[in-house]
Amino acid sequence: MTTPARILVTGATGTVGSVILRALDAAGHQVHGVSRRGGAGPRQHTWRLGQEEPPPELRVPWDAVVHCAADTRWNLPYEQAEQANVEPLRGVLSLIGPETHLIHLSTSYATGLEGDISSHSPDAYRNSYEWSKATAERLVRATRDSADIVRFPIVMGARADGALDRFSGFFWLPASLCSGAVPALVGEKDGLMDIVSTEDIAAHVTRLIAAGPPAGHRLSILGRGKEAQRMEDVFETIRAALNSWRSANGVPLLERLPHVTPEQWNRFHLPFAEQHLDRAQLLRVTAFRAYQGYLSVTEPFDVTTQVADSKQALFLSMRLWAETHEGAARRIPQPWKERSAPAAAGAGGP
Ligand SMILES: NC(=O)c1ccc[n+]([C@@H]2O[C@H](COP(=O)([O-])OP(=O)(O)OC[C@H]3O[C@@H](n4cnc5c(N)ncnc54)[C@H](OP(=O)(O)O)[C@@H]3O)[C@@H](O)[C@H]2O)c1
Repeated sequence: MTTPARILVTGATGTVGSVILRALDAAGHQVHGVSRRGGAGPRQHTWRLGQEEPPPELRVPWDAVVHCAADTRWNLPYEQAEQANVEPLRGVLSLIGPETHLIHLSTSYATGLEGDISSHSPDAYRNSYEWSKATAERLVRATRDSADIVRFPIVMGARADGALDRFSGFFWLPASLCSGAVPALVGEKDGLMDIVSTEDIAAHVTRLIAAGPPAGHRLSILGRGKEAQRMEDVFETIRAALNSWRSANGVPLLERLPHVTPEQWNRFHLPFAEQHLDRAQLLRVTAFRAYQGYLSVTEPFDVTTQVADSKQALFLSMRLWAETHEGAARRIPQPWKERSAPAAAGAGGP
């Protein structure tokens, strides 16, 4: 594609879209962004994709659209997940013609439990997020003769300093570790957690734009693949990052969490919790269950573009989260208590 190309980035104020927008801008393109609430600057527009028609200023020919807008929550009801992650794509498809280079951002987790995106059944996925992202990928394939689909796993910030425009997605975890809402490390012992930096994604998208639209559907999968960090190491890196901030700020250090397999958790701890915890505690436990998918992947993702080691990006991003979320980072984990409380009865529960 010739420079400057006229490019629209959806979700341009988010964790990933903001970095892509700046990278394409730095590469000399003429880049516009859209989001629900709009961003700063004349090239940032407001458009609630999937809920309203595009504003007139966006109904122009685009050389490329990088579609990042999504809701990364794993526990939305299925209808809402479709509304959040499929309808916005329909909005993009209604805006562009066949000549526009579509780059659709997906997730490595879109392949769900069966290792591909073909199943329409929610049972084939760990949660509604995976299901809706797989549905969106199928929609791209069904409606476009040419498109790039880019999958990647958990996203951390810049490699040099962990910088992120938004601490969304995975940053439920440090907050939950500090508050005690995650009572145990629930995951497979050999669980892998693949992590990329926002910079890896932005550099890849910039290369795809330079290469131009593919003949057909081109799938890229970014990550570490077989060299992904083990879940326990990831938790230790997060704990080390949070504790480095806590120690510098006089806050008691976080202890190592006990390890529990998903089977033990779902068969024993969760039924126990359902009987004995109060409503607020149960809501936290249920929300936590929706995230177990992240922690139970034992097969490495098949990557097409291997990224550099991401341990340092994880450490720095978590440390920066603590610096910028001081109230949450200062919390002291509270032990789980029963509703009406013979003290010893909580011992085996979360
Ligand atoms: N973060 C991760 O760990 C991760 C991992 C794998 C894949 N991904 C994928 O990467 C992409 C970007 O995710 P992200 O982490 O950058 O998300 P994010 O930080 O939550 O940002 C979402 C962005 O999308 C916008 N948006 C959401 N729904 C919209 C709608 N209906 N209309 C217009 N704008 C809308 C938001 O605008 P407002 O702020 O105005 O609401 C925001 O700019 C998504 O496809 C996601 O599935 C993310």
